[in-house]
Amino acid sequence: MICLIKSYCAKINLMSIISDDNNFQKIESGKKNPIIKPDFEEGDKTFENNIRPKNFDTYIGQSALKSTLKITIEAAKKRAKILDHLLFYGPPGLGKTTLAGVIANEMNVSIKITSAPALERPRDIIGILMSLEEGQILFIDEIHRLNKVAEEILYPAMEDFYLDMTTGKSQTVKTLRIPLPKFTLIGATTKAGELSGPLRDRFGIIHRLQFYTEEELSQVIKRTANILEIEIDNEGACAIAKRSRGTPRIANRLVKRVSDYAIVKYDGRITKDVADKSLDILEIDEFGLDTTDRNLLKLIIEKYDGGPVGIETIAAAIGEDSRTIEDVCEPYLLQCGLLQRTPRGRKVSPQTYKHLGYNVKNLTEQKSLF
Ligand code: ADE
Repeated sequence: MICLIKSYCAKINLMSIISDDNNFQKIESGKKNPIIKPDFEEGDKTFENNIRPKNFDTYIGQSALKSTLKITIEAAKKRAKILDHLLFYGPPGLGKTTLAGVIANEMNVSIKITSAPALERPRDIIGILMSLEEGQILFIDEIHRLNKVAEEILYPAMEDFYLDMTTGKSQTVKTLRIPLPKFTLIGATTKAGELSGPLRDRFGIIHRLQFYTEEELSQVIKRTANILEIEIDNEGACAIAKRSRGTPRIANRLVKRVSDYAIVKYDGRITKDVADKSLDILEIDEFGLDTTDRNLLKLIIEKYDGGPVGIETIAAAIGEDSRTIEDVCEPYLLQCGLLQRTPRGRKVSPQTYKHLGYNVKNLTEQKSLF
């Protein structure tokens, strides 16, 4: 039976969706599987999964959001209802996926994790929706990248838990309304502004995840070191926290890297001295900036007189993708005041000159010679 998604006339074989999609590996043999795990590299995947907190007691930071969520979850449990759809936004690495897992655990339900780029064809999103169980959580990462067709399919699914399909051809077209189990959608995005208004409006709870304080990151680092049986003292944890850009994913990676140095070059124990020396070798400075960040800032200073300069020009000059710059490098540089966004492009601040060791007076004198 050939189905046409209402108004888009996308050809979908409903029988194959119904019969195959209880097992996502089978959606279409040879085609990509829309159920994915978070985007860590193979080795990092197990590492991240092992150290992921599973409940609110072990999840450090985001205290305002945690308080709100605890109330919402308790209320949903008392009413024996599912949770409202939730949208988390903020820079990468702050724990959006982890938090979705914590919510699922606290609600005692299972979670299906996917990402918008894996939901390219209508049948991908339909397959996932039809495979959900009552109360289950569906997590869609990078939700701002959902295409229009997938969004249109999601609207009635989110609002009233059904799919609208049409069957047959031209004159014999019939509308079929397929009920879905009640589920909670958790969307995550680094770019809330790129979400369409109608999709954003369908989330009951919308929350921004904040950068972590050094104190919170120290706690994350000590917890991770404890799980990995790495010896670390308070000062060592603080030294790594200072250079972790307010981001637990970075903090956890640095713990591993510093631990390698501690084992090979020292006695295995992470102290302040060991952490500082290792991070210097890794070229991560005291603000947590790496070579890409520094090259970006130096380019604006040396070639564009401190800016403003357009993002595409910067991307081409340093050989990075403009999206990576916007999503990964910029949020932290903006947060710590080393970069500013203006309608005419990006510019640096006086603090940037100081941090990178430029003598502002000499630089001005040099420029006036030309
Ligand atoms: N690892 C990554 N994020 C974490 C968090 N928020 N709390 C504890 N451990 C973490």
